[in-house]
Amino acid sequence: MSRYTVEDAAALECRRVERVYSAMAPVYEAFFDWALGPGRRAAVESLGIRAGESVLEIGVGTGLSLPLYPGGCRIVGVDIAEPMLEQARARAEALGRSDVELRKMDARELAFPDESFDHVLAPYVVSVVPEPERVMAETCRVCRRGGSVVVVNHFLSRSRLLGFFERALTPMSRWIGFRMDLPLEVVTAAPGLELVAMRGVNLLRLWRVVEMRRR
Ligand SMILES: C[S@@+](CC[C@H](N)C(=O)[O-])C[C@H]1O[C@@H](n2cnc3c(N)ncnc32)[C@H](O)[C@@H]1O
Repeated sequence: MSRYTVEDAAALECRRVERVYSAMAPVYEAFFDWALGPGRRAAVESLGIRAGESVLEIGVGTGLSLPLYPGGCRIVGVDIAEPMLEQARARAEALGRSDVELRKMDARELAFPDESFDHVLAPYVVSVVPEPERVMAETCRVCRRGGSVVVVNHFLSRSRLLGFFERALTPMSRWIGFRMDLPLEVVTAAPGLELVAMRGVNLLRLWRVVEMRRR
């Protein structure tokens, strides 16, 4: 008799998330462009990219961050949902950015050798994936030593009342592709990464930009 493992559950959840974002692709920007824009801008600025450097963006989505990158750097964006990537490709082409490469890939298993990038950015994705700790480990692995890793996301509130509602609403929010109860420590205590700075962004500063350095 075959056994249903934790890995099977995560793979199933990953496919479900892929379907959710594939279906949401045509309307994604109507909801999440301006609302999450300040955090995206702050996160790209925090990377401190210099000419000639390489950046990996995990969960690049429709490519809303692409116009924010300075010229002269190499950008690789990965995402699990092909319809989101199609929009990102159209955006890169409209921007005339031949230095952007977009690939369908699961952030839990990045197909890059160790220390491939100078910077890694994860905008609004760690609360979407089924195994955020694994995504953080992969993020750390592909960033060079001394390179920067920046995560922008909503995390479980430290306020008891808000935290209660976030936990209560999470089973529902998961159906539209994200959880509201991700503990901040999943990111700040990720092995191999050192916390550099953190600040609140977006509406009521309910999201955070977390800047880290690869040890
Ligand atoms: C909330 S959207 C954020 C998109 C974009 N970063 C932005 O700022 O608008 C989350 C994105 O993560 C992608 N995603 C979900 N699970 C993923 C996985 N396992 N690997 C890579 N991308 C994933 C989704 O397809 C979606 O495009």
